[in-house]
Amino acid sequence: MRVLTGIQSSGDLHIGNYFGSIKQMVEAQNRSETFIFIANYHAMTSVSDGKRLAQLTMQAATDFLALGIDPTKTTFWVQSDVKEVLELYWALSSFTPTGLLERAHSYKDKTARGASTTHSLFSYPVLMAADILLFSPDIVPVGKDQIQHVEIARDIAIKFNNQYGDILKIPEFKIEEHVATVPGIDGQKMSKSYGNTVNIFGEEKEQLKTIKKIVTENVALEDPKEFLGCNVYNMAKLFLDENALLELQERYKKGGEGHGHFKLYLADVIWEFFKEHRERRAYLQANQDEVREILSQGANRAREVALPMIQKIRDVTGIKY
Ligand code: ADP
Ligand code: TRP
Repeated sequence: MRVLTGIQSSGDLHIGNYFGSIKQMVEAQNRSETFIFIANYHAMTSVSDGKRLAQLTMQAATDFLALGIDPTKTTFWVQSDVKEVLELYWALSSFTPTGLLERAHSYKDKTARGASTTHSLFSYPVLMAADILLFSPDIVPVGKDQIQHVEIARDIAIKFNNQYGDILKIPEFKIEEHVATVPGIDGQKMSKSYGNTVNIFGEEKEQLKTIKKIVTENVALEDPKEFLGCNVYNMAKLFLDENALLELQERYKKGGEGHGHFKLYLADVIWEFFKEHRERRAYLQANQDEVREILSQGANRAREVALPMIQKIRDVTGIKY
């Protein structure tokens, strides 16, 4: 089974990203044929500083490799290294009613919040459809906010196939139902846009400072504390095995320790959890040529799949003459 997903290269990764999506990608590598790319053309819709976009792309590649994307198992590349996607994007555009794009939530939301309306923002789902349809995946795992985009890709593919025959594979999306929403330091959903994140690769001191800001109940030091619903406990739960979790529950119930103690413990647990990832990241940061080589090989593999498809598209559309 082929699984494909795209990553937006938009800055520091947080533990919500890790438990909500990266962990699943890493696990999927052992079960399926996985295709993962960094969507830098899509990032152009929101980042117009060229130097920064280039940096973000390398940073995303480095971070995802450090967190467990294994290039011997996964075809891992940068979107813009397989230019055929732009050709398919254009071919699909003729099968994309503008009404379909006008109804896209992400476009409507962004414009409602005052983002200037550009053609790239409007046609974002068409490029995403090309990303998907070029590689004929069975499944596209996405967050809830991206479901509509995959549905649009399906609609476009059906219209294209109606005209030219059974060429594009109709993709299914998959949301990870069992994946819980990771709470931020204020108890709301952790998200960059809420400023409530605990970053995966922050400095140790900064990380501790952030964790100390987690909102907790005010209970006297000696009194027992409620772990259910506690933001510190809820975050710790993601990292701990059953025994460690039971021990932590006992500490809550016993009293004599404040939330400050639990926060220090949580900071240690998180720091230890990402130790190997941090070391691997430092290595990759010092060896960016290795990262470039991995991406280049990934692009070659991706192109092997993309080329026969784009040739078929050229044939049926009459672009090859
Ligand atoms: P942010 O909300 O910080 O901008 P993104 O939208 O870039 O995060 O999310 C990237 C991926 O991480 C998505 O697949 C999303 O579902 C997942 N994700 C982000 N925040 C959380 C969270 N708090 N809990 C679970 N998953 C999350
Ligand atoms: N739009 C997706 C996001 O913001 C990223 C993306 C681009 C993508 N192309 C894709 C995801 C193709 C899945 C398939 O997260």
